[in-house]
Amino acid sequence: MDKIAAPALSLRSLGGAGGGAWEAETLETDRLRLRRLRMRDAGDLYEWTSDPEVARYVLWEAHRSPGETRAYIRYIRSLYRRGLPSSWGIELREEKRIIGTIGVMAWSPENRSAEVGYSLGRPWWHRGYAPEALGAVMDWLFDRMYINRIEAQCDVRNPDSARVMEKCGMQREGLLRQRVINKGEAVDVLLYAALRETRRELHA
Ligand SMILES: CC(C)(COP(=O)(O)OP(=O)(O)OC[C@H]1O[C@@H](n2cnc3c(N)ncnc32)[C@H](O)[C@@H]1OP(=O)(O)O)[C@@H](O)C(=O)NCCC(=O)NCCS
Repeated sequence: MDKIAAPALSLRSLGGAGGGAWEAETLETDRLRLRRLRMRDAGDLYEWTSDPEVARYVLWEAHRSPGETRAYIRYIRSLYRRGLPSSWGIELREEKRIIGTIGVMAWSPENRSAEVGYSLGRPWWHRGYAPEALGAVMDWLFDRMYINRIEAQCDVRNPDSARVMEKCGMQREGLLRQRVINKGEAVDVLLYAALRETRRELHA
């Protein structure tokens, strides 16, 4: 579940996970570039972080001013500097604009597990961009960070997000009743996960 402004977990013993230090490397797909956010992305981001429809099923409130979006980017950039799990901006390669974010919301080096979350601006929904970005992040987590288990969660009322996880080969593991309070309401959440050992099936 996307927690756009939530603090990420400490990476104290990332070495124990078998990977190097966290570094949000640039990842390329056919249509997208996942890259570090820059302060000058604030305008692109605010166009959709301010949309209540985008924020409906995620654990952040629609931004009420460009200043909130700038504060969010500053926070993410502080995570880059500290070598902590963070988010990429999702850039549309042709237009060179940031249409969404995807990132690691939680990380447990001891258990070699990570939780991912993602959001796209409304004009870019339903074109397969989220699965394209999630697939690249999953490959990176398995191949570069030696992660064993990748989780993601979504509000039960958000079937498009559940489809994204399914398309990336995640399996539904359960329904977590009233797992989170979202905008004042206790909501049920679907938990999905992909395992390294079943990964071959993902690409079959
Ligand atoms: C949820 C979200 C990430 C989906 O991303 P996306 O790039 O639009 O995903 P897809 O293009 O793969 O579409 C996903 C599903 O939406 C549905 N969909 C696609 N086109 C559609 C259309 N024109 N009309 C209605 N539904 C449609 C389909 O079920 C599709 O799955 P399918 O291709 O297997 O049929 C995006 O809607 C979003 O960012 N929403 C706001 C933030 C959010 O909810 N984030 C997730 C938090 S857990």
